[in-house]
Formats: sequence, C-alpha cells, structure tokens
Amino acid sequence: MAEVNPVFLNGKLLPIEQASVSVLDRGFIFGDGVYELVPVYSRVPFRLDEHLTRLERSLGEAKIRNPYSRAQWRSNIYQVIDAQTFDDQGVYFQVTRGVAKRDHAFPKSLEPTVFMMANPLVSPPQAQVDKGGAAVSATDNRWLRCDIKSISLIGNCLLRQMSAEAGAVETILFRDGKLTEASASNVFIVKRGVIQSPPKSNLILPGITYDVVSELARANNLPIEFRDVSEAEVRAADEIWVTSSSKEVLAIVELDGKRVGDGRPGPVFRRMHQLYQEFKQKVMRAGKREALQV
Ligand SMILES: Cc1ncc(COP(=O)(O)O)c(C=O)c1O
Repeated sequence: MAEVNPVFLNGKLLPIEQASVSVLDRGFIFGDGVYELVPVYSRVPFRLDEHLTRLERSLGEAKIRNPYSRAQWRSNIYQVIDAQTFDDQGVYFQVTRGVAKRDHAFPKSLEPTVFMMANPLVSPPQAQVDKGGAAVSATDNRWLRCDIKSISLIGNCLLRQMSAEAGAVETILFRDGKLTEASASNVFIVKRGVIQSPPKSNLILPGITYDVVSELARANNLPIEFRDVSEAEVRAADEIWVTSSSKEVLAIVELDGKRVGDGRPGPVFRRMHQLYQEFKQKVMRAGKREALQV
C-alpha cells in the first residue's frame, strides 16, 4: 500500500511520492548531515527539547547552519505529528549541508536540506521485554566522533547487520578492551546491584534514553555509576541492557551465545523497565506542550 501520510521537506508538508531532493545533495553524495529520531506516544513527543538540544549540538559540531529556531523546530515537528493518521510515531528528522557541486570542502552559504517523516512507532513486544534478547559483540571500528548523530551510518549498519544475521537484537561494541555502546543503542550493565555505563565521550552517542535511565536511577535510589567498563566486566555482568528511543530499555540475556546472569531479565532491569513505563505515562498525561522532569 502506498504511504499516504505526509512528510516535511524544506518547509512544506507533501505526500512522500512528491518529496524529492537533488542528487547533488551532500547528504546523498557524502552522508553529510545529522539526524534525530523522537518517539511520540499518543501524539506527545517524548523529551523533544532534549532531542532538539542534541540536534543543535550535532549541527554545531558538523558546522552545518541550523535553519530553524527552537520554536520553529517545535512547530514544524508538531505539524508532522498532527498530519499523521496514527498516534504512536517515530518522528525522524535530518538536516544535510545542502546542494553543491561535488567537492569535499564546502561553500559557506549553503541552504541546508531539512527532511522529516513519521512512521508508526513499534515498541518492543511484551514477550521480548519479558524474555530479553540476544546480542553479539564486535570491535568498534567506527570513527572517533560517535558523539555526533551523523547520517553517515555505514559503520553502524555493517555492525548491526552482524547481529541481524545471527538472529540477535544488537551488536555490543568494544574498543581497546572497553565497552563503548551498541550499533544503535547505549549499553548498561548491572553488577551486584550497581548499574554501570561508560561516561559520555566522543566514543558514544549521548543517548536521550541513557539520560532518562540515569535520572530515573538517581530519583529512585538505584546505585548508578558512569565509568569505563571493561570487556571482561561486561562478560561477567549479572545483567546487560540496551537503551534507545525505539528499544526503550531492553534486557540482553545472551551475549555471543553465552548466558548473561541466569539467562533471564534481572530484577534491576524489571524495576527500571517499570519506572520507564511509568514515566512515559506521566509524560502522556501531562500533554504535548510541556517539558517534564523525572
Ligand atoms: C549509536 C547509537 N547509540 C545510542 C543510541 C540511543 O540514543 P537515544 O536514546 O537518543 O535513542 C542510538 C539511537 O539511535 C544510536 O544510534
């Protein structure tokens, strides 16, 4: 069936079939752009301001001009949300440097290309939450600016494909013997009740869900530490979780074919998953134009 829900391209809402960009767009030629994906529950975007803060940072680090003010971003995103026929959405938006004759160096005065679309949001099915998922591991061979949410995702795609081919939900990454993140999510471990995850750095994406988990842990007196986590610590962990806007918080119960803990989602995971769901409900009840703290 043809997709009828409108997309946003450079200021206009239009059917996806009519949305087109130049083949000289630097997003197409170089993967020269940045993006965000915001989950929307019952038409209420979750942590929109935090996503916009990260977008602004990515644009700044990539030296791409931000075409919109914060208020304009919000209003454009609401337009996209309101134009859809379904309530739970994954709103994707990307900004590329724009259209120019192919040359690595870029002219200063380019008009950025802005594209947004909404797809039905598919949260992890209850069975997966209850049972957990499998992961494989790989060497993190991506570039050293993983803190920028770049559309150049070939490294992440190749890594994710490894777990897809193994029938697993994620590929957990190690660089120089230390945990970084996973191909499309952040990673937490639990050892003797203490939640642990690598600190923010150029080696990981500063996840919005990572921050929510951190805030929920602190607000509910669950011990949490951000510090370097070795590969050996991951392999000996009682629990492993992956977090992202679409996966929310998901337990990994098998890593490279070996059981994690007792092979079932652990008690700290179950508590965090419950806190996360409660927080989502609170955001939905508060309505769409309010920012909510944990
Ligand atoms: C590489 C990577 N790390 C972490 C995340 C999690 O980020 P967030 O919680 O903001 O969705 C993502 C999400 O797409 C990602 O691609």
